[in-house]
Amino acid sequence: MAKITQKYGKCIGCGTCVALCPKFWEMVDCDMKARPIGGKINEAGDYELEIEQSELGCNKDAEESCPVQIIKIS
Ligand code: F3S
Repeated sequence: MAKITQKYGKCIGCGTCVALCPKFWEMVDCDMKARPIGGKINEAGDYELEIEQSELGCNKDAEESCPVQIIKIS
C-alpha cells in the first residue's frame, strides 16, 4: 500500500492532477480545488488516500507535476 497526502488548503486549482490522473483526482467545483477521489480529511486538514502499489503510476505523475508541490506519496 501507499498513501497519498494532499495539502488541500494550498491547492491553487490548476487541474494538472485531474488532467494527468482522472481516475484518482477530481475538482471540487465550489472550492475550485482538487482532491483525491474517495480521500478523507485528516486532523491537519489535508486529504489522505490509500492506494495500491499498482496504482502509483499517474499519481506519481501528479505528485511530480503539481506546481505548488502539495501532493506527497509515501
Ligand atoms: Fe491543486 Fe496541485 Fe492538483 S495545485 S489542482 S493539487 S496539481
